[in-house]
Amino acid sequence: MMNKGFQISIQGSDKIVTCREDESLLSGLARYGQKEVPAGCRQGGCGVCKIRVLKGEFETGKMSIKHVSAMEKDMNFTLACKTFPKSDMVITVNIKGDRKWQ
Ligand code: FES
Repeated sequence: MMNKGFQISIQGSDKIVTCREDESLLSGLARYGQKEVPAGCRQGGCGVCKIRVLKGEFETGKMSIKHVSAMEKDMNFTLACKTFPKSDMVITVNIKGDRKWQ
């Protein structure tokens, strides 16, 4: 039976969105009109949708190592367009690309 979805919250924001496990975080957020995570290629190739997962389980599809190194992967950095939730999650976003992660 398909799960109805997981609650995804963005740190520093009071917004919580529901994302199904068969859709990427980026698609789930976009469905709610969330602009916190920028969208680009939607295929794991451009890196603009990079986020960090603070809490929760997830799976990832193929991502370019150019945008998420092995070390970053270990630190739970991921690309929202290639990340599929497996539990409720808390994420943080690279605000304006300044690399100051919360
Ligand atoms: S939108 Fe390009 S890597 Fe996610």
